Amino acid sequence: MCGIIGYVGAGEALPILVEGIRLLSYRGYDSAGVAVAHDGALVVEKDKGRIEDLAPSWDRTRLRGSTGIGHTRWATHGRPNRVNAHPQQDASGDVAVVHNGVLENDIALREELEAAGVPFVSETDTEVFAHLYARAFRGDPVAAAREVLARCHGRFGLVFLHRRLPGTLVAVRRGSPLVAGTAEGVGLVASDVRALAGHADRAFEIEEDEIVVLTREGVAVYGADGVRKARASHPVTYDDSSLGKGGFPHWMLKEIHEQPDRLADLVAARIDPVHGRIRLDELGLTDAELAAVERVDLVGCGTASYACMYGARAFEALAGVAARMVPASEFEARAELLGPRRLVVAVSQSGETADTHAAVEAAARAGARTVGVLNVRASRIARSVGGFVDIHAGPEICVASTKVYTGMLLSLLLLALRVAEARGRGHGALAALRPALDALPGAVRRAIAAHDQVREVAREVHRAQNMLYIGRGPDHATAVEGAMKMKEISYIHAEGFAAGELKHGPIALVSWDVPTVAILGQGEARTKMLANVREVRARDGLVIAVAGEDDADARKVADLVLPVPVVDPWLAPLVHSIPLQLLAYDVARRRGCDIDQPRNLAKSVTVQ
Ligand code: AGP
Repeated sequence: MCGIIGYVGAGEALPILVEGIRLLSYRGYDSAGVAVAHDGALVVEKDKGRIEDLAPSWDRTRLRGSTGIGHTRWATHGRPNRVNAHPQQDASGDVAVVHNGVLENDIALREELEAAGVPFVSETDTEVFAHLYARAFRGDPVAAAREVLARCHGRFGLVFLHRRLPGTLVAVRRGSPLVAGTAEGVGLVASDVRALAGHADRAFEIEEDEIVVLTREGVAVYGADGVRKARASHPVTYDDSSLGKGGFPHWMLKEIHEQPDRLADLVAARIDPVHGRIRLDELGLTDAELAAVERVDLVGCGTASYACMYGARAFEALAGVAARMVPASEFEARAELLGPRRLVVAVSQSGETADTHAAVEAAARAGARTVGVLNVRASRIARSVGGFVDIHAGPEICVASTKVYTGMLLSLLLLALRVAEARGRGHGALAALRPALDALPGAVRRAIAAHDQVREVAREVHRAQNMLYIGRGPDHATAVEGAMKMKEISYIHAEGFAAGELKHGPIALVSWDVPTVAILGQGEARTKMLANVREVRARDGLVIAVAGEDDADARKVADLVLPVPVVDPWLAPLVHSIPLQLLAYDVARRRGCDIDQPRNLAKSVTVQ
């Protein structure tokens, strides 16, 4: 969602702010802006649009200065436009502030300030912070920030710049991540360490209710009580591969292609080569505790919730423990039903998703055990859960998840096997799966290599207005996730559902211009899927089958085929996802859509 960057140093702030905004853009945004201290005033430039389009039109002579703040906004309070973009200012123009998160007592504070004669110009909650800080500022930035913290409820990361302290930034964190970075004569602050790339040597996470003052001389940390604190920093290492597209036209395509290596790394990291056991060292649960688990609730949002559907199946089939997926926003922590024998597994790429975080907190309050299957270690959910499984996929930049989705599936499969092991029934299952796990990266690579066939299918279907996706068993999740990818980036209305449900309603939609993607699978599921495909064809529906490379039947019953290597049924949903990711990508490309940053979407959804 929103992103923050702040810089104070000896050099020009503007290029660093613009580059920081660019590095934060993957989170999804609709407006961007900067404020720079220049010649005794704060100069603000901001508007709706992309940084690539906005920055060239900004007045660089007025934006000269070595202290500044920048922001990417994803609208929550008020529509995306120039006035609502950040930085927001107080009425005198003395203060500029950038803000991530939500101010919960926004209405009460706004009414109070308006009653005191303060004029508001925007619809944002952020403007409240600017006015409050300006009124509280009497020369001491920490005292002013403390007053703001004391008056405000909600989750926010804030960075203030005051006209009277042109070489100072003040960062405040409550519930929304902020990281401070340093280098010789430089102080930086950002909502994501990525935005510090190339400028900070060392960094530390700002903690709850801390106030951090950044100047060229250094960075000082204060608690909400105003007392200065010592804080250790760590060297910043940048993963260069996450800073560029490596020759691919889009992040999405790059991330699709990264999957074989990411999955190979994950298998290598999780399976002990000597004893052949699953290593989940940070699970925080003993074998006895795992064996005592009576029920597993898997919670997540969007794509992560589809991974949970698959995970629930794996827990039931492999570990013999009752499991279900609950969309995190629908999770109800009934204290009488929870407790130490209930395991709540929170699945999230960003680790920041507000609904998933709320579900974890509620589960923990009700006494359940909690584990996070997450791709970001330094995240809000990671701090709240009792145990941690690292998805190990590396930074995912495209808003639409691809490599993290397959990483989630594999992580959940291994977690289910680990629980099975603890319950005395897993070792055989892992041993049986081991050759297939080793072969998985190669199978995924082969599925990617069949991209040309996907391009042909994209040519046939890219004008569709509606699409259907059907699958059975573990591929029910593949179907809903395939449809999600299509609608997210191509804006085609696509619905995924269990194939058996077809004749209970959705079949009414079948027609030649509503293509149906059918994930055939293997064994009994395949036999039933072939029957479902015939039902669609009998109603003149266009069918695209995801089928084994040698599946001659698929070629007879379907109009088009997306070939995939045949792998173990538990790993098949990972391989079957590949052509569906590529199909969404190719269709979106043909339709001229903004693939990496689809309209209205954000990479991490930090509001409920
Ligand atoms: C994925 O393609 C989507 N952008 C979205 O559904 C996402 O999976 C969801 O918002 C959950 O995000 P998280 O994994 O960061 O919690």
